[in-house]
Amino acid sequence: MASSLHSLYFFLAIFICSSVHAANVPPSNGLVLPVKKDAKTSQYYTTLEMGSNRVTINAVIDLGSQFLWFSCDSYTSSTYNPIPCESQKCEKVKGFGCIGCSQAPRPGCTNDTCIASPYSPFENLLYPEGIAEDTLYSKNNMKVFELPFSCFHSEHLTGFAIIATRMLGLARTEISLHKQVADKFKLPDKFALCIPPDKGVGKIFIGGGKDTTTKLPLSTPLIINPVSTYPIYSEGDPSDEYFIDVQSIRVEGTPLAIKTSYLTFDKEGVGGTKISTINNFTVLHSSIYKPFTRAFVKAASNMKIKSVAAVAPFRECFRKDVYWRIYGENSLVKVNNNVLCLAFVDGGKKPRTSIVIGGYQLEDNLLEFDLVSSKISFSSSLLRQSSSCSRV
Ligand SMILES: *[C@@H]1O[C@H](CO)[C@@H](O)[C@H](O)[C@H]1NC(C)=O
Ligand SMILES: *[C@@H]1O[C@H](CO)[C@@H](O)[C@H](O)[C@H]1NC(C)=O
Repeated sequence: MASSLHSLYFFLAIFICSSVHAANVPPSNGLVLPVKKDAKTSQYYTTLEMGSNRVTINAVIDLGSQFLWFSCDSYTSSTYNPIPCESQKCEKVKGFGCIGCSQAPRPGCTNDTCIASPYSPFENLLYPEGIAEDTLYSKNNMKVFELPFSCFHSEHLTGFAIIATRMLGLARTEISLHKQVADKFKLPDKFALCIPPDKGVGKIFIGGGKDTTTKLPLSTPLIINPVSTYPIYSEGDPSDEYFIDVQSIRVEGTPLAIKTSYLTFDKEGVGGTKISTINNFTVLHSSIYKPFTRAFVKAASNMKIKSVAAVAPFRECFRKDVYWRIYGENSLVKVNNNVLCLAFVDGGKKPRTSIVIGGYQLEDNLLEFDLVSSKISFSSSLLRQSSSCSRV
């Protein structure tokens, strides 16, 4: 079963009756960070400590973001070092140009500093800022020296969970935490992510991937979108987000009639399927969303389950019913005590990416991103194995 799976097995495990093997519980080596969900914004965030004073940082997890960046409004550290512009390091971290600061020097305000561009997906804005290095500490006593990140004074940023002082980017870049841990500790570049629903505490395992998830039953190759999906990039840069090759989508075992061109990339890198922890729910191109919901509603109606008035942003909602069990845990969301909605949203007719698998569909699934063998392995819902992300 581990050979290449051509359908979206983990979120479609709901539609495909598969026997699910017990997931292997990862060992506690490597860098382990907690993951929680902010109830108000539905953002998933982690907690780490940075700098000589071990300042606590809560950072939203973004698989599509390139590196760690946070507010240094209350950041002090004697080990903080700005990366000079025009240095080799600046080149290595793909920095560009020089930034200065007219105020008194402090973390986030230095002269002749290499520029990076953190991106805020909630505002769709780039923030050109200096890039620096400092030590990251985890609660399980790992120290990552000289981790590149960006920190700045942050009057303007909006859209983030109140608790979060910004973002931990886990994209496929030289300066993302998993690559830095792999390089510095001579570990394979792998990380595993288990995001919890409200009130749970999941985990990220970084570099502990040695035998972390080798027994995860399902896997699919990671593929490269040849055109960057970041707001700024150089010509020829591929995307450093995580794309997988979905070739068909099934509802109750029946493949949907979808034009395959939506599932592949065109010359501009439009199309395909990516995984995102920033989207609350899976977003489907309209031409996929429509047949998908039709098939789902038909299956429901065959089971005599009543449709009820839609609750935005969803279009298809149903009266709560015990029979829903068979559809699995991640396809429907409870919007109130009596109503469940199909937890997918319509991405319109011209989205950059046809399918964006969102956070809700990933909850309580253990996913391992293996950048050495370029594949994602996953557990399918841990709930079916009487486990959860809070227990891995
Ligand atoms: C996610 O859901 C929250 C409410 O739970 C909403 O405020 C936010 O706009 C949603 N985010 C996205 C990206 O859809
Ligand atoms: C940067 O250089 C300018 C001009 O020399 C100076 O006024 C300023 O204080 C310096 N800023 C920092 C943070 O060192």
